Amino acid sequence: MKIHNVVLVGFMGTGKSTIGKYLADQLGWIHIDTDQRIETDEAVSIAEIFNLQGESYFREIESRVIREIMGQQGQVISTGGGAVLAEANRQQMLDNSLVVALTADEQTIINRVSRDRNRPLLQGDVRQKVSQLLEQREHAYDFAHMQIDTSNLSIEAVIQTIKEEIEAG
Ligand code: S3P
Repeated sequence: MKIHNVVLVGFMGTGKSTIGKYLADQLGWIHIDTDQRIETDEAVSIAEIFNLQGESYFREIESRVIREIMGQQGQVISTGGGAVLAEANRQQMLDNSLVVALTADEQTIINRVSRDRNRPLLQGDVRQKVSQLLEQREHAYDFAHMQIDTSNLSIEAVIQTIKEEIEAG
């Protein structure tokens, strides 16, 4: 397979945005963060979209943005944790791209997401929300070409693993 893009999928707090940025730098590819793209396009924050228009509206924009982005090449794409829920999104990601699912254990996710309290789906009891969503999405990321557990890996080690996969092509 000729790899045109790398798509990072995974639950919130698994490192998609951070890894995406550094991986793109190293590959000399463009980095696109779908959440950031949505916020720029809509000129409001993700939290505001959820609050004002609701989750289903957010999912519509997310799918549109993914469709637009997947038409281009040479990109590392960091997606939002729920971007994989729609079948059409998953199909577009798999088409000519290397889809990498980043994972992390529950406690690591809780520690990481607790640092940033802006996620609309984790308002209230973070521990309980993470646990519930992790259960709901248990197999949501299984469609990816590869999985990397980032709980105990350095950013560099994760990037190295992805680069080796790209080179193996
Ligand atoms: C979501 C994850 C968020 C963001 C939105 C919904 C989800 O992105 O897209 O809050 O459904 O898991 P991150 O995974 O980057 O936090």
